[in-house]
Amino acid sequence: VAESDGQEQDLQALLAEQLAYYRARAPEYSETAIPDVTEHELLTAEAELSEAVRRFGLGGDVLELACGPGTWTRLLLQGATSVTAVDGAPEMLALAEEKLADRRVRLIHADLFEWSPDRRYDGVFFGFWLSHVPLERFEAFWETVGRALKPSGRVLFVDDAYRTADELIEGDRSAIIRRALNDGRTYRAIKVPHTPKDLEKRLGRLGWSIRVKPTAGPFYWGSGTRG
Ligand SMILES: C[S@@+](CC[C@H](N)C(=O)[O-])C[C@H]1O[C@@H](n2cnc3c(N)ncnc32)[C@H](O)[C@@H]1O
Repeated sequence: VAESDGQEQDLQALLAEQLAYYRARAPEYSETAIPDVTEHELLTAEAELSEAVRRFGLGGDVLELACGPGTWTRLLLQGATSVTAVDGAPEMLALAEEKLADRRVRLIHADLFEWSPDRRYDGVFFGFWLSHVPLERFEAFWETVGRALKPSGRVLFVDDAYRTADELIEGDRSAIIRRALNDGRTYRAIKVPHTPKDLEKRLGRLGWSIRVKPTAGPFYWGSGTRG
């Protein structure tokens, strides 16, 4: 028990550090490119992911988890009646509010590892979030997604499995990485390198019926329903 208590504390400290990283990174979030991914790959993937979001057409009331500065929110608003967007970083939410200024958007400041939805939605979306959910919290996270969905509700996510060699401070078998800000400060974060097929299987074991498709570069998107 003592050992698992210690592991739980370590994980909580890591999740707090990951959130601290995104809070500090908010002002430079949009200027940081992904090194080693060619610009062509990046643009192709961006277009494919945006097209997937548009084509999937989440309508009605949509919940967006880890919205950051509102990267995907405007696209979601093209099909949605309303978007409730949750993020743990007030600095990110301030950017989202400035960018969106839309009465159909409700912003919620919450830690997604503690938060529970207060209603059900027609669709749930998350962009570049699932890879930051440690496997120890994977099932609990998807339970939250399930609690947020109407029985006919649909899920859509986009993400990547990209980790540079110098980020892998605990080796390439670990999900723990280190990220640096422009000023050189470093933080530990989680980056689980899911592969589309394994992610599909993992979700299937939890009762979800989700197809995960790769795009250009290290990106992928997944969509589906509760099985
Ligand atoms: C990689 S960014 C993705 C932002 C946006 N969805 C996008 O695609 O650009 C991850 C986001 O997760 C948020 N985040 C990190 N830890 C969190 C937590 N424990 N609860 C809620 N949000 C968290 C960060 O503030 C950040 O906005």
